[in-house]
Amino acid sequence: MFAVDCDGRNVTTIEGLANDSKADALREAFVEHGAVQCGFCTPGMIMQADHLMRNGCCGDTGSIKRGIEGNLCRCTGYKKIVDAIAAVSGAPS
Ligand code: FES
Repeated sequence: MFAVDCDGRNVTTIEGLANDSKADALREAFVEHGAVQCGFCTPGMIMQADHLMRNGCCGDTGSIKRGIEGNLCRCTGYKKIVDAIAAVSGAPS
């Protein structure tokens, strides 16, 4: 999404989830599963994972994969990220 498309809208960044227990669980799971990548993709992955979880879209690993497919990282195979999200959401892996 381009910044101009957000004109007049509320935007939550990773800092906006600083004191959020659900986001804390995601951050901890990313660390425990070795899913932390760089400072560009990891905040986006956590924001997307938080959105998916709050909207009940993490029923299985397939839905998690589809849910994060817009967050691109050329450095990872995504497995650890999907595993971290599945661990927090309770999705069978
Ligand atoms: S580690 Fe962040 S883009 Fe690949």
